[in-house]
Amino acid sequence: MQKVVFVAGARPNFMKIAPILRELRQKYSQSVAPLLVHTGQHYDRNMSGSFFDELDIPRPDYNLKVGSGSHARQTAAIMVRFEKVCTVEQPDMVLVVGDVNSTVAAGLVAKKMGICLAHVEAGLRSGDRSMPEEINRLATDAITDIFFTTEERGTKNLLQEGKPPEAIHFVGHVMIDNLFHQLERLSRSGASREIMEFKAGLPRQYACFTLHRPSNVDRREDLEPVIQALQDICRKIPVVFPCHPRTRARLEEFGLMRGMRDPEKLSGPIESGVILFPPLGYDDFLYLWKDASMVLTDSGGLQEETTALRIPCLTLRENTERPVTLECGSNMLVGRDMALLRKAADRILAGDLNPCAVPELWDGRASQRIARVLTAPRGICPHHAVQSTGAKPCLENK
Ligand code: UD1
Repeated sequence: MQKVVFVAGARPNFMKIAPILRELRQKYSQSVAPLLVHTGQHYDRNMSGSFFDELDIPRPDYNLKVGSGSHARQTAAIMVRFEKVCTVEQPDMVLVVGDVNSTVAAGLVAKKMGICLAHVEAGLRSGDRSMPEEINRLATDAITDIFFTTEERGTKNLLQEGKPPEAIHFVGHVMIDNLFHQLERLSRSGASREIMEFKAGLPRQYACFTLHRPSNVDRREDLEPVIQALQDICRKIPVVFPCHPRTRARLEEFGLMRGMRDPEKLSGPIESGVILFPPLGYDDFLYLWKDASMVLTDSGGLQEETTALRIPCLTLRENTERPVTLECGSNMLVGRDMALLRKAADRILAGDLNPCAVPELWDGRASQRIARVLTAPRGICPHHAVQSTGAKPCLENK
């Protein structure tokens, strides 16, 4: 039996571990014993707990409860506490996902303890080292033993960086597995009553909007033009805005919430305006954006999820580490060019920007492929050296 520690800490991690854990529980319970560690990087119910319920993720075996802080503080707190878990549990492998602080912190601990490290969503590169996530990606992949990539570009990046080809597995995207699973669930049980009633009042054309990157929200001079563009777009169609706590705090501080509407105070059909929600659970937000005319965002995951459902996405970033979303025609980078954002939104409303393809292997079966690799007989972790801590080479047949 192999002991694999799964690490998740922030909102975009939960939808990536859910399908892998499900697959292992259903088909490989005799060969893999997964342990779940929640770092506590995100902790509010609507940033964390609700995802566990909705995505059917088991209760974490450990919650490190690190909470918020500067990057150094948060990363260090995770490392100190995660090291204790690894010392007690002596896992055969640590599996991390994505590019958040929890990813790199847990990866560093694992490798320094001589534990095999697997990284899901490896190889993505924005080329923009001012982005904290890019540093997390580079640092994690520098020490990863088994790379699972979501798109061919990720594999190419890793090969260019000199990673051994036999350690790289192009498996598709677990986030899309989760998306399909949740769509199916939604079709059976629906979203919350409040959200279903709210959506019933929306017209055929509406937009969903999210924004949370420090580079977009932390300074007034960056945030204000975005909100102004939003105020223009929302004269034509309602804009649904579930707001990250970081963004909410800046909107309040900069006095930029004028005219934004509270969903609880709405009644009857909604023709226009920005409707400001707190962060929404996975299902409620999916229920809204899956039928939107467009999504405006600076999220990484939403660029991909909208691609899978062929919903036009306008990304408020200068670059993306997920270029396949651009190649498939569903995603467009608008950066800080708010004139371009307005123009692109108009083109979408006129039916002029149509997504075409869905990326290779985004078929809902990435977690099956990952589970097969994780449970393969000896030798899947070829570059993992036995360290003095006594940890064993990963995934040997015992
Ligand atoms: C983190 C990730 C980012 C990801 C995002 C999704 C890093 C470097 N960044 O950014 O890649 O896209 O999560 O949300 O790991 N807060 C709450 N409640 C919570 C969590 C956070 O109120 O449950 C507030 C706190 O004020 C906190 C701030 O949000 O300081 C930022 O949280 P943090 O985890 O530091 O980064 P995110 O911006 O969420």
